[in-house]
Amino acid sequence: LGTGPLKGRHVVVTSGPTHEPIDPVRYIANRSSGAQGAAIAAALAALGADVTFVSGPATVPPPEGVRVVQVETAREMLAAVEAALPADAAVFAAAVADWRVANAAERKMKKDGSGKAPALDFAENPDILATVSKMETGRPELVIGFAAETDDVVANATAKRARKGCDWIVANDVSAGTGIMGGAENAVTVITAEGSESWPRMGKDEVARWLAARIAKALVE
Ligand code: C5P
Repeated sequence: LGTGPLKGRHVVVTSGPTHEPIDPVRYIANRSSGAQGAAIAAALAALGADVTFVSGPATVPPPEGVRVVQVETAREMLAAVEAALPADAAVFAAAVADWRVANAAERKMKKDGSGKAPALDFAENPDILATVSKMETGRPELVIGFAAETDDVVANATAKRARKGCDWIVANDVSAGTGIMGGAENAVTVITAEGSESWPRMGKDEVARWLAARIAKALVE
């Protein structure tokens, strides 16, 4: 620990799903395990980086050797990321809920015997990646987002890079039959200002090591 090409560099990594409350005992969530984010944080720490790992309620435990900040909602995740800055790089691997329940109840919702189901109203969550990418002061030198696509991976990810304002997009094809969603392997295409680069299909840990090495190269050169 504390040696390697990223020694003295601070990297913020988001990971896992977010939970958006419906009432004190219920929430809306997604199936992200946090595996890819945890692997990236571990790989960055292995290269000597000082890593702040901002994680939603993931099923995979956080790696050793990183500063862990546990959050639940998208808004808490944004606040934790902002509190963790400044950073040299930020990697947004979390599967943030696009919407939260706008009319979350303060007390547990109960059946009232009328047979009528309650209605949930949704409000859009902040986009953490876009918010940090567009910071006018204190923006990390390198901001990296992810994109899960099912078709036209390069075209969609290139458009997403422009829309979000980030430096790189790590895109993967999660269409049925690839076995990537929830699997141990990943096949990614990295979109930068220079174009796109397809990496061979490999384990998520290995994708993390490639990405960490790429980040070290970009920051140190
Ligand atoms: O827009 P989309 O969800 O496809 O973008 C994915 C990328 O944006 C991921 O890097 C994800 O972590 C990030 N994101 C975010 N905040 C949101 C939604 C997505 O940081 N509210």
